Formats: sequence, C-alpha cells, structure tokens
Amino acid sequence: MVTVPGSAAPIGHLALVGLMGAGKTAVGRVLADRLRRRHVDLDRAITQLAGRSIGVIFHEGGESTFRDLETQSLVLQLEAGEPIVLSTGGGVLGRGENRVVLAADSIVVWLRARPETLADRVGDGVGRPLLEGRNALGVLRDLAEDRHPAYERAAKVVVDTDGLTVGQVVDAVLDALMDFGVVRPEALAGQTVDGAGGRL
Ligand code: S3P
Repeated sequence: MVTVPGSAAPIGHLALVGLMGAGKTAVGRVLADRLRRRHVDLDRAITQLAGRSIGVIFHEGGESTFRDLETQSLVLQLEAGEPIVLSTGGGVLGRGENRVVLAADSIVVWLRARPETLADRVGDGVGRPLLEGRNALGVLRDLAEDRHPAYERAAKVVVDTDGLTVGQVVDAVLDALMDFGVVRPEALAGQTVDGAGGRL
C-alpha cells in the first residue's frame, strides 16, 4: 500500500476497466497527468513485452497466448513501486488471477457505455482482433452481457461515459475518488491537459 502525498488515506493503483471503446486509454492518460502519476496502457505494455502487435499475437498464438501475456504484463505493472494509472484491455477481468491481483492493490474504475456508443467509437475495429471482420455492435452487445457482472463486482467507481468528453469523464472519476476520500483536491494538478476536451 502507498499513500498519496498530502493525503492520510492509503491508495494503490487506479485501474480503468470497461469494454473496447470505453475510453480507457484516453481517460487514463489525462487522469494520470491530473494525479501526477505514471500512465501505463496494458495493451501497449503487452506489445512491448512480446515485441509484436496485439493483432500479430492473436494471429500467431491465438487468444490464449494473448491472455497469458496479458496476465504476465498486468502482474509486472502492478509490482511497480509507485502508484500508477493503468488502462487495461476490455477482457482483463476474464481471468481469476487478474481479478485477484487487481483487487489486492488497486481501485478499479469502470468506464461504462451503451454498446451503441462503443460501436460508434470503435468504428471498423482496426487493431482489435475480436472485432475485425465482424459486426462490432453485435460483438459488443454479447461482451456487455458476458462481462458487465465482473466489471460491476470489481469496480469501486462507475462512470457512465455516453456523450461525455475525456475531460468530463476525468472530472467524474476524480469527484468520485474525492468523495471516497482517496484523493484530496490539493493532490491534483489543476492545469488543463492536452486531449481533455476531446470526444471519447
Ligand atoms: C480486448 C480488448 C482490447 C485488447 C484485446 C482484447 C478484449 O483492448 O486487450 O484486443 O478482450 O476486450 P481495448 O479494450 O483497449 O480495446
């Protein structure tokens, strides 16, 4: 456990979860700036660990190889000495081991959105093997049914992101964290951060 400077409350990592298109990467980047923390994008960490893109990992080794690398990267990133903001991939809560390590030392934030909103955001699904060549809305509806219970169980904070900008979602997450007493206003960097006004 670590402590946010200026706060008596212990706080670990912040982990953003949600389906593809939820805005985990864009929100994570701005949130990390506001909290003066390092931002880690788990998909990016996986590609660095594997030396291959997500698409190539799926293509060559299938989803199980990807999931093994995902767990390995998750454990490595959460071992970081300082508290980070972690943008996960949409399937991260599928494995029990991942749920256990996240529950141990992270506050989980679920960025929720309607499947229609997500489908609009992911467009043709390029770079996302689970969507390529398939009907994105249909896949996202199925995944929502499958995964929402796990997101719900894991999350301390839930933000409905439909129609919000990146900055509005960041503010909503920070407000919730302040309500829980895990972030104090004076711990925040007040400046406007690039990308905060963008659409999710
Ligand atoms: C996946 C989501 C992707 C990536 C991989 C699998 C999933 O991440 O991890 O393609 O199972 O939902 P994003 O949620 O960042 O798109």
